[in-house]
Amino acid sequence: MALQDKDRIFTNVYGFQPWNLAAARARGDWDNTKALMERGQDAIIEEIKASGLRGRGGAGFPTGMKWSFMPKESKDGRPSFLVINADESEPGSCKDREIIRHDPHKLIEGALIAGYAMRARAAYIYIRGEYIREAETLFAAVQEAYDAGLIGKNASGSGYDFDVFVHRGAGAYICGEETAMIESLEGKKGQPRLKPPFPAGAGLYGCPTTVNNVESIAVAPTILRRGAAWFSSFGRENNKGTKLFQISGHVNRPCVVEEEMSIPFSELIEKHCGGIRGGKDNLLAVIPGGSSVPLVPAAEIWDAPMDFDGLRALGSGLGTAAVIVMDKSTDIVRAISRLSYFYKHESCGQCTPCREGTGWMWRVMERLRTGDADVEEIDMLFNVTKQVEGHTICALGDAAAWPIQGLIKHFRPEIERRIAENARPELSEAAE
Ligand SMILES: Cc1cc2nc3c(=O)[nH]c(=O)nc-3n(C[C@H](O)[C@H](O)[C@H](O)COP(=O)(O)O)c2cc1C
Ligand code: SF4
Repeated sequence: MALQDKDRIFTNVYGFQPWNLAAARARGDWDNTKALMERGQDAIIEEIKASGLRGRGGAGFPTGMKWSFMPKESKDGRPSFLVINADESEPGSCKDREIIRHDPHKLIEGALIAGYAMRARAAYIYIRGEYIREAETLFAAVQEAYDAGLIGKNASGSGYDFDVFVHRGAGAYICGEETAMIESLEGKKGQPRLKPPFPAGAGLYGCPTTVNNVESIAVAPTILRRGAAWFSSFGRENNKGTKLFQISGHVNRPCVVEEEMSIPFSELIEKHCGGIRGGKDNLLAVIPGGSSVPLVPAAEIWDAPMDFDGLRALGSGLGTAAVIVMDKSTDIVRAISRLSYFYKHESCGQCTPCREGTGWMWRVMERLRTGDADVEEIDMLFNVTKQVEGHTICALGDAAAWPIQGLIKHFRPEIERRIAENARPELSEAAE
């Protein structure tokens, strides 16, 4: 059964109503936030833990547990910070944008509650540079919240002082990686840090920091209001809650929609997207979680539950739930090669396997696209992806490797066909 309207958290995701404070209040945001905070910091963290919420930024780390890693008191006077990741640069991903431009107060209230729970002094919302209008809305919404006394000194009358800063990025995908984001916020070049130390120990300005995705933070107030049991009544074990799915590509109606976690792929597409362009039999493959996860061929994805564990079982992942649908008109080798180019372009260049490997993989992918390659190079490319994967400072190396691995695993005959076809004219020339 599809999610009912009464259970939607993001009731203005399509912007049918204004984003402003008065409209947000009418939708239930900022409703006695003080009372939520009075439950106490540990109780808030426990409730989020009990809800089963897992991070919505891609990796799916349990949110309540992440918050619990933050120090309960500062032993050396250092403040703690919450950083909210609004970089959203993963190809296919476009949900945080909808929250920010149509429902920004959900995010700001969430920032206060999450920040309070983890004893943070302030939240920094790092927004992707290209989101110009969205940033304008966010700046204005933050100002509204300050003017109404909801944040700032004695936030929402709670006695707790909490600031929210909005910081605009300059357009680098890598700044979405949490430690690169911290570097960038500090005014440096956005390059990931080695871990450990983890941000909860030494993050922004060397202070304890938690980085969370926009959606992870924006759902927190509703979870507290409606209860962990309500949130965890959706989805399968270990994959709980409602989730914003973003479906793009060859469906009849691409959309962003809040649905129950674990909804089967077929239901998501038929109910909300008007089906596959040209019908179910025209489906070729799906990248279910944003460009970083391996593709899944049509036959395997159709009945799959759209959640962390269901997609992992298929050798892919939920990622940001950016579902890229490709029908049979797609040149699948070209599509993956284009992603390889993206990762080559976005590599920050710190580690050799990523800096050299992404360019190398892209160049081979381009030759596989045209068929100008030897069959043995398919295995060689696969081996190189294995040497990049897991051997780099951050997960961009993995993200560059996985789409290629998925292509080779599922579409090797197509690659071999191109190589054979490319070779044939030469063979016939030799025969003459
Ligand atoms: C190359 C790269 C890019 C990333 N981009 C984003 C992004 O745009 N937004 C995001 O929320 N997380 C992104 N992440 C994941 C973050 O590092 C981090 O795990 C996430 O913000 C944690 O939030 P969550 O626990 O709420 O999911 C990226 C990771 C990598 C390796
Ligand atoms: S894996 Fe790539 S993007 Fe990440 S730190 Fe290394 S070079 Fe930079």
